[in-house]
Amino acid sequence: MAQGGRRDHMPPALGFQIAMNGKARIFEQTLAQLGAVTREAAVKLFAGLRSDFDRDSASIRNQVEWKSFRDNWLGRKSGVLSQITDNWLKPAEPGLKPVVGQELNALRGHVEAVLEERRKAIEVAAEQSALARERIDLSFPGVERAIGTRHLIRQTFEELERIFLSIGFSVVEGPEIETPYYNFEALNIPEHHPARDNMDTFYIDAPGKPRGLLLRTHTSPMQIRTMEKQKPPVRIVVPGKVYRRDNPDATHNFMFHQIEGLAVDTDITFCDFKGTVEYFVREFLGAKVKTRLRPSYFPFTEPSAEVDASCHVCGGSGCRVCKNSGWIELFGAGMVNPAVYGFVDYDPKRLSGFAFGMGVDRLAFLRYGMNDLQVLFQNDVRFLRQFP
Ligand code: PHE
Repeated sequence: MAQGGRRDHMPPALGFQIAMNGKARIFEQTLAQLGAVTREAAVKLFAGLRSDFDRDSASIRNQVEWKSFRDNWLGRKSGVLSQITDNWLKPAEPGLKPVVGQELNALRGHVEAVLEERRKAIEVAAEQSALARERIDLSFPGVERAIGTRHLIRQTFEELERIFLSIGFSVVEGPEIETPYYNFEALNIPEHHPARDNMDTFYIDAPGKPRGLLLRTHTSPMQIRTMEKQKPPVRIVVPGKVYRRDNPDATHNFMFHQIEGLAVDTDITFCDFKGTVEYFVREFLGAKVKTRLRPSYFPFTEPSAEVDASCHVCGGSGCRVCKNSGWIELFGAGMVNPAVYGFVDYDPKRLSGFAFGMGVDRLAFLRYGMNDLQVLFQNDVRFLRQFP
């Protein structure tokens, strides 16, 4: 391989090794300097150049190499053919000039034709190798992406919503970040009321909100927000996340899920309340399950009740699930306390209604016979796959 500054950047495979004579390459010297004084000698020199060209052109492999090879031969200033014009043709003896001219033209024609041929060949080869690279093998097995399933909580929500939609309720959702007013005051839970004790939650400092914001402790604030916006009759369920200051264990978590229910109209009685609750329990836990109401207390319902179901596992005879009592505590509920209507501009003399608030995680728990709430939040696919 020739050495020397100017050619150091050339790809090594590309020869460009044109015969040298002493120090300079032959086309850098005149014919006289090369000692070529006859026609035959001149023709021989051209033949040598042509075979150098043929040899080197055969080793070009890509477009980059082709370009630099072309410039070496056809470059305007320092291409081999320009230098031959300058060094061989122009200073040639008059007797030699015609043959040098002819030979030069023939060489130029050959160089141009071969270069064009090589260019096309390289292009076709590049296209073919791109095609080969990009070829799609349809017999190859595809990439299988695992499709997830709806989380057990999501499935339970959907089942609950289905049951209530079927008896004329609609579904609304509300903010998880609430004001103390909606979470407490408007639900008839004034500050310092003991009912706040089991609803300790997370408070948020918010600029411009001197009394702060909180993560709602129940979905009941949506009772107020809905009645503020909507004239009676109201029949809604409110699915969503709620928060309390609880340490996680098998039956507690700092975040869990509820579905709120509210029905308000001019003629709603305790019978409607009981009938709705019974219908729901039978739909959700099975036709054989009985319902029982126990007196309870919530500031926003009066009277209030805990709704129990006869144990769907043992049928009421007593087992581990019902702790041998035959009954399972389901959720809190009651007739809307008339005091609440005062906060939303509803007429307590004309209107009545009922409300309930169910723990969705707990309902899922009961229905699927689980014993640890935390599995709902751990995202272990072995658990999730059991509820496809
Ligand atoms: N919001 C109550 C709770 O979270 C449940 C409830 C809702 C009770 C509606 C009565 C009526 O404990």
